[in-house]
Amino acid sequence: MVCRKLVAACCALLLTGAVQAAPLPDSGTNVHEGVASCSNSVCHGKKAPSSDAPVLLNEYTTWIDEDQHSQAYATLKSEQSVRIAQNLGLPNAHTADICLDCHADNVPKDKRGDRFHINEGVGCEACHGGGGRWLESHAEKGTSHADNLAKGMYPTEQPMERARLCLACHLGTERKFATHEIMGAGHPRLAFELELYTVFQPRHYETDADYRKRKPFIPSVNMWLAGLLVSSERTLELLQEDWFTKRSLVPELSFFQCHACHHPLDDLRWQPEGGDAALPPGSVRLNDASLLVLQSVLEILGNNTAGAIRKGINKLHQSTMQDRAAVTAAAAEMEKLLPPLEQAVIDRDYGVEDMKKLRAGILQAAAKQRYRHFTAAEQAYMAVENLCIELKDDKRLQANLDEWFAIVEKENEFNPQQFAASANRFLGAL
Ligand code: HEC
Ligand code: HEC
Ligand code: HEC
Ligand code: HEC
Repeated sequence: MVCRKLVAACCALLLTGAVQAAPLPDSGTNVHEGVASCSNSVCHGKKAPSSDAPVLLNEYTTWIDEDQHSQAYATLKSEQSVRIAQNLGLPNAHTADICLDCHADNVPKDKRGDRFHINEGVGCEACHGGGGRWLESHAEKGTSHADNLAKGMYPTEQPMERARLCLACHLGTERKFATHEIMGAGHPRLAFELELYTVFQPRHYETDADYRKRKPFIPSVNMWLAGLLVSSERTLELLQEDWFTKRSLVPELSFFQCHACHHPLDDLRWQPEGGDAALPPGSVRLNDASLLVLQSVLEILGNNTAGAIRKGINKLHQSTMQDRAAVTAAAAEMEKLLPPLEQAVIDRDYGVEDMKKLRAGILQAAAKQRYRHFTAAEQAYMAVENLCIELKDDKRLQANLDEWFAIVEKENEFNPQQFAASANRFLGAL
C-alpha cells in the first residue's frame, strides 16, 4: 500500500511543479514570519487537541511544553554553552552563527518578518519552511497540501525529505557542522535515528484517517530506513567537503569513530579480522555506522547492491591509509550507489515476515561482531528496538531489549564482546 501512496504523493509533487529535493527551510526564498504568527489561540495555540479540525491545533502548546526544540536557543545561554563558547574563544554562544545555525532558525536578516525572533529557537518554520507565501492561504477552506508545497511549505511528511531536514542539524551539512573542535570544547556527541527521534520529539500530529486523506502514511520501518539511507548519503557527502580537511595536520576528527581514540589504554579492542576492512593495529577508523547497518539491511533483503556497498565500505577504510584524494574518490564512488536504493528500499511495503527477517538479520550480524564500534552498535540497537515496537512484541522481549540497551547506554563502558553475546541471547528469545 505504501508504494502506491508514495508514488501518488510524488506525482502530486511533480504536478504542482515542486521539485523532489525541496530546499531546506533555512535556504528557501520565503520570509520566516516567527512562531508568534502560528501560536494564536485560534490557530495552533490551543491548550488541548481540537476534535473538529483536520489538525490538532495545539501544536504550539506541545512544542513549548514538551519539545526540546523550543529550548534550543535558551540552551545557548546555559552554563555548558558559556563554557563551550569560552573554550572556543567566542564572545557568546547565543550570538555566534556556528551555534545559532542549529540551535535557532538562523535565516538571513532579509528573510525575517516583523514578528520573527531569533530567541524562539528551532521554531515551526525551521522545519515547516518560511510561511511568507503560505501563512495566509494555508488556513483557508479548500487549500490543498499541494498548494502549500507549491508556495514553499517544506514536505515534512515525505520520508527522505524529513530525514534531510532533521539530519541537517542532527548530523550536519556542507554549511553547518559540529566539528571535533566544538566537541572538544564540551558539545555532546550527536546521535540520531529518524523514527525514534520523531516519536521522542514528541509528535504534534496524528496520522489518523483524516491525515491519510491529505498525506501519505509512512510506516515506521520505511521511516527508519529513510533515515539510514540519508545519513549514509550525508556521511559520504560530508567526507568530500572541506570539513574533512582541517586547517591542521590532523583531518577533521568527528568523521572518525569517537571511541577509537576515546577509550582506556588497557582496554585492548583491535582484532585482526571480522567483517570490517582490515587496517593495521593503531589505525583510526572512519565512522561508518549508518553505512554498516544499511549494508546489513540490503544483504538481508537480498538487494544486489549489498556487495558493492560492502566493497565500498572496505575501500573507504583503505583510502584513509592513502591520502585525502583517495578518501574523496572512494566516498564519491559509493555515493553513486545510493539514489536507486530509495525506490528499492524506501518505496516498498514491509510485511510482518520482512520485519522479522530484518530484526533477526541485524541481531545475527551483531552476534557476529559486525558492529564493533559504539556508534554502529547504537544504530543496530535503535533499529531492533524500532522493529520490536512495530512488530508489537516489544513487551514480550522487554528483558532482552533492556539487557541490550544497558550495553549501549553508557558509551564509555561499551564492550563489543558483551554486545555480541547479548545479541546472541536476544536471537534465542525470538
Ligand atoms: C534547525 C536545526 C534542527 C532541526 C531541523 C531538527 N532539530 Fe532536533 N534538535 C536540534 C537541537 C539544537 C536540539 C537540542 C536542543 C536542546 O536541548 O537545546 C535538538 C533536539 C532534538 C531532540 C531531543 C534530543 C534529546 O536528547 O533530548 C529530538 C528527539 C529531536 N531533536 C528530533 C528531531 C527530529 C525528528 C527532527 C526532524 C523532524 C529534528 N529534530 C530537526 C536541532 C534541530
Ligand atoms: C550541526 C548542528 C549543531 C551545531 C553547529 C551546534 N549544535 Fe549544539 N546541539 C545540536 C544538537 C542536534 C543537539 C542535541 C543532541 C542530542 O541530544 O542528540 C545539541 C546539543 C547541545 C547542547 C546540550 C543540550 C542539552 O539539552 O543537553 C549544548 C549545550 C549545545 N548543543 C551547545 C552548542 C553550542 C554552544 C554551539 C556552538 C559552539 C553548538 N551547540 C553548535 C546541534 C548543533
Ligand atoms: C523539528 C521539526 C518540527 C518543528 C520544530 C515543528 N514541526 Fe510541525 N511537524 C513536523 C513533522 C515531522 C510533522 C509530521 C509530518 C507531516 O505531516 O508533515 C509535523 C506536523 C505538523 C502538523 C500536522 C500536519 C498535518 O497535516 O496533519 C502541524 C499543523 C504542524 N506540524 C504545526 C507546527 C507548528 C505550529 C509548529 C511550531 C509551534 C511546529 N509544527 C513545529 C516537524 C516539526
Ligand atoms: C583520532 C582520535 C580522536 C577521535 C577519532 C576523536 N577524538 Fe575527541 N579528542 C581527541 C584528542 C587528542 C583530544 C584532546 C584531549 C585533551 O586535550 O586532553 C580530544 C578531546 C575530546 C573532548 C574533550 C575532552 C577533554 O578532556 O577536554 C571531547 C568531548 C571529545 N574529544 C569528543 C569526541 C567525539 C564526540 C568524537 C567523535 C565524534 C571524538 N572526540 C573523536 C582525539 C580524538
